[in-house]
Parts: sequence; structure tokens; C-alpha cells
Amino acid sequence: MARHLLEVDDLTPDELTRVLARCTDPSPARVLAGRGAALIFEKPSNRTRNSTEMAVVALGGHPIYLRPEEVDIDGRESAEDVARTLSLYHSVIAARVFDHEVLERMASVVDVPVVNLLSNLSHPLQAIADLLTIRSEFGEVAGRTLAWVGDYSNVARSLAIAAAMSGMSVRFGCPDQYQAPAADLELFSSHGAPDVASIHDPAAAVDGADVVVTDAWYSMGQEAEAVRRRPIFEPYRVDSALMARAADDAIFLHCLPAHRGEEVTDEVLDGPRSRAWPEAANRLHAARGAISWLVEASLGEP
Ligand code: CP
Ligand code: NVA
Repeated sequence: MARHLLEVDDLTPDELTRVLARCTDPSPARVLAGRGAALIFEKPSNRTRNSTEMAVVALGGHPIYLRPEEVDIDGRESAEDVARTLSLYHSVIAARVFDHEVLERMASVVDVPVVNLLSNLSHPLQAIADLLTIRSEFGEVAGRTLAWVGDYSNVARSLAIAAAMSGMSVRFGCPDQYQAPAADLELFSSHGAPDVASIHDPAAAVDGADVVVTDAWYSMGQEAEAVRRRPIFEPYRVDSALMARAADDAIFLHCLPAHRGEEVTDEVLDGPRSRAWPEAANRLHAARGAISWLVEASLGEP
């Protein structure tokens, strides 16, 4: 039976540990030798497309990038029929979609892994890359605190799940209307976060935190809201004064692309606490480790 990765908690904590181990394997097995991987993008991408394509190549496979207008999910044919067709030629289907439900529908009809390359709800490969970055900084991460500042985005949800599954506490400093829903806060607790807090004041959220993270104030597809959102999010910019509230050895993460001067200042993004570039580099390792594990797990040999 195929294993899919639509959100980080599609993996058990033990499986997440195994995926992370594969991400750091310097000589991964070529589990995709002679096989294809279909990569569908309904939205733009720099990191995700390039890291996933190169991860497939590193695993011996052949990636095929599909533009949105080529497959036109639910336009030219249904998401299910797109997936059924691609599964005849490929051993992995990966997609960046507007509507998370499209991924669920694709996964429900195929026996090859479906991988979420970002949806409105989640971004699991980003979260795995972020966890790799946090682990390489601190070693054992259990007991550390992650502070998310700004918009509670798809990236925030997946990272908080990954952090919770790793024993980290999670805090959110987000404006009204842009907070994590109560059900998600309960989810993070149920996944093992020792402490989960939703705090409106960004300074209080960051106080003593080990990892400070933010994302764009408006995600892809929300550009029309930019003008309305900017004044609301203005107090949530991560600048040097906010970073000074974090622990002395705290790091700053950003999935990128950054809107420099909006959610983060150049001084922080380019400063000594920023790990945004190692984080971006880890996208390749995350894609390689996760796809490798999913392919083997789907064959019953993880
Ligand atoms: N972080 C991330 O997913 O970047 P792209 O949108 O460029 O893929
Ligand atoms: N939250 C952002 C992440 C981009 C990688 C978006 O969905 O546009």
C-alpha cells in the first residue's frame, strides 16, 4: 500500500526519525533507478521545484515538471484521473496545489506515493528541512521552544507539527484573525509539545525562544490582501529588537521567499542568527530523504 506525505503527521514519530536519518545519509540508495517522478506545480516555486527535481535525480530517477496549464487539474480532467494516469508512468507523484483536498483526492486513487509540495494547509517538506536545520544547530531539540511570528500559514502548521512530534514547545505571536485555530493548538499538544501557547504580543511570544520563525504576511494566492494586511502585521516584523528578546543562542528561520522589509528586516535575514540559507539547502536533503523513505515504505521495505 502506498504511503503518502500530505502533512508531517502522516508519519509516526518513529517514521519521522527514520526519514530524518535518510536526509543525512551521504550515499542514498538509488531507489528510483529507471523510474519517473511527476512534479505538478499549480503555483510558482524556486526552492521546491529545484530541490525536488535534484532529489529525484540523486535517487536515480527522472523528474518530469508539469506546468499547471498542461494538466489543468479539475479543468481538463479530474484530479483523480490526472493521478491515475501519472501513476501509470511514474513511481512518485508530487504536487503544489491551491486546495489541499486535491492532494487527498489524488492520494485516494493511486498506489504510488503522493507528496505535498505545498498546499493552502501544509508544507511538510519545508518542515522536515526546518527540523534538520534546528537539529544541526542544537542537536537534541526536545525541550527547546519554537516561536512563530506573523501569519499562521501552511508553513507554520507543518513546522509546529514537526516541532511538537520532536518534543519542542511551540508559541505563536500572531494578530487576531491570523492565529492558529484552537483545533490545531490541540493537535500540537496531542503530538507531544510540552507547552503550546497562542500569544498576540510578538515580544512575549519570542521571549527566551530558541528558534524564531516567520513567513510572508500574505501567501501565494493572497496577494490581493497585501494592502489590507500590511498595517495589521506591521507590529509583527522580525527585526533586531524582537530577536534580542529570544535566547542568546537563538536562531532565525524563514522558508523563503522573503518580502524583505515586511515580515523580516535585512539585518535579521542577513545577520548572524539567520539560518535561512542552510535551511534552504536542507530542502534538497529533506526531499531526498522523504521521497526515498516513501518509495521504499510503499514497496513494504522501509
Ligand atoms: N520555501 C519554498 O517552498 O520556496 P519556493 O516557493 O520557492 O518553492
Ligand atoms: N506561506 C507561503 C510559503 C511559500 C513557500 C505561501 O504559501 O506562499
